[in-house]
Amino acid sequence: MEYAKSSVLVSGGAGFIGVNFVRGLLGRREIPRIVVLDALTYAGNGASLDGIDDDRLHFVHGDIRDQALVEKLLREHEAGSIVHFAAESHVDRSISGPDAFVSTNVDGTHAMLKAARSVWLEGTGVDHRFHHVSTDEVYGSLGPGDAPFTEGHQYQPNSPYSASKAASDHLVRAYHHTFGLQVTTTNCSNNYGPYQFPEKLIPLMIVKILGGQPLPIYGDGMQVRDWLFVDDHCRAIEACLERGVAGELYNIGGSNERPNIEIVQKLCEMIDERFGASESLANRFPECPAARGETSMSLLTHVKDRPGHDRRYAIDFRRAEAELGYHPQETFESGFSRTVDWYLENEAWWRGVMDGSYRRWIDSNYASR
Ligand code: NAD
Ligand code: TYD
Repeated sequence: MEYAKSSVLVSGGAGFIGVNFVRGLLGRREIPRIVVLDALTYAGNGASLDGIDDDRLHFVHGDIRDQALVEKLLREHEAGSIVHFAAESHVDRSISGPDAFVSTNVDGTHAMLKAARSVWLEGTGVDHRFHHVSTDEVYGSLGPGDAPFTEGHQYQPNSPYSASKAASDHLVRAYHHTFGLQVTTTNCSNNYGPYQFPEKLIPLMIVKILGGQPLPIYGDGMQVRDWLFVDDHCRAIEACLERGVAGELYNIGGSNERPNIEIVQKLCEMIDERFGASESLANRFPECPAARGETSMSLLTHVKDRPGHDRRYAIDFRRAEAELGYHPQETFESGFSRTVDWYLENEAWWRGVMDGSYRRWIDSNYASR
C-alpha cells in the first residue's frame, strides 16, 4: 500500500522513539494527518511534541487497550496505516512489576489488532498496513562467539518485558495468517538519542554524570548491546512501511556492539571534554567532577547485577539491507556526540520529565486535545 497517501495512526507517539518518528514523518508533506494516540504514562511526554507547528498533527490522550477508541480514530481520520510503538519498555520495571507489561504489551497490542481488523477488513476491506515495533530482546541472549540474531532465530525471551513483546509479535503474526491483516514487524536493537527518558542506560548516565552521582554498572559491565541512533531506527520503519512485505519480520541493528562499561566510559570522556571547552558548564553543573577539573570516570560504581540479565544482543540486519534498502547512517561517535549535546541543551526537558512537572502541565493542557 502507499502509506504516505492516507493518515497514519501512531500509538505511543509521545514516547522516546515515537516522538522522533513523528517529528521525522511530518517532513513528508504528502501525509495528510498524523494521529498520535498515547496514554502519557511516566514514559510519555506531550512536552516532547511541543514546538511542532503543524495542523496535520492530532494528539489524542487515550489508551491502546480501548478498542472502541482505536476504531473510532481509524474511521474518523480514515487512517490507512498504524505504527504501533506504545508499550511498557523498561526491563528493570518489568522485573519489579510485570503485570503492566502483560496488560499493555499483550492485551494492548491485541486491542489494536482487533480494532484494525474490524475497521480495515470488514465488508470489502481497505488497503492498509499495521506496523508493529518490536525488539531484538525476543530472541534471548547470545554467547560471545555466537552469530548475530537472524529473523529465523528461535524466540527465547528471558525477561517479562521481552516475553510480553514476544507474545505481542506472535499475535501480530497470527492476525496476518488467520485473518489476512497486512502486518509488518521490525525487531530492533537498543536505541539512543534525544527525548529518551532517563531510566535507560545512556540518558540515565548522562544526567548522573552532570549531577555528580554514582554511575550504577550492573555486574561486571561486560554485557553487550548493539546501539542504534534513534533516527536510523525511524528511517528503517519508514522503509518497512514503503517496501516491507506483509507478514514479514525485519531485524534492525547498528553494527555497533559495545559492552556497557565502554558506553559509560565514552559518555564520561565526552562530557569531560565539553566541560574543558566551555566554562559555563561548570556553573550550570557544579556537582559534575569535570567542573572541578576531575574525571567523571571516578563516578563509576559496580552494583548488584540485574536478575536474568541478558549477556549479549547482536543483530544480523542483512534482510533489511537487501529488501528495504536500510543502512544505519550514524556512527558511534556522531550519534553519541549528538545525544550528549542534546541533553546538555535540553536540561529543562529532562528535569521536567524526571520530576514530573511536565506531567502535571500535560494533564491540564493536553487532555482535551
Ligand atoms: P517509551 O517507554 O519511551 O514510550 C512508550 C510510549 O507508549 C509512551 O509515550 C507511553 O505513554 C505510551 N504508552 C504506554 N502504555 C500505553 C497505553 N496503554 N496506551 C497508549 N500509550 C501507552 O518506549 P520507546 O523506547 O519509545 O519504545 C517504543 C517501542 O519500541 C516499544 O514498543 C519498544 O518495545 C520498542 N523498542 C524499543 C527499543 C529501545 O531501545 N528503546 C528498542 C527496540 C524496540
Ligand atoms: P537498558 O537501557 O535498560 O536497556 P535493555 O535492558 O533493554 O538492554 O540497559 C542497557 C544495558 O545497561 C543493560 O545491559 C543493563 C545495563 N544497565 C546498567 O548497567 N546500569 C543501569 O543503571 C541501567 C539502567 C542499565
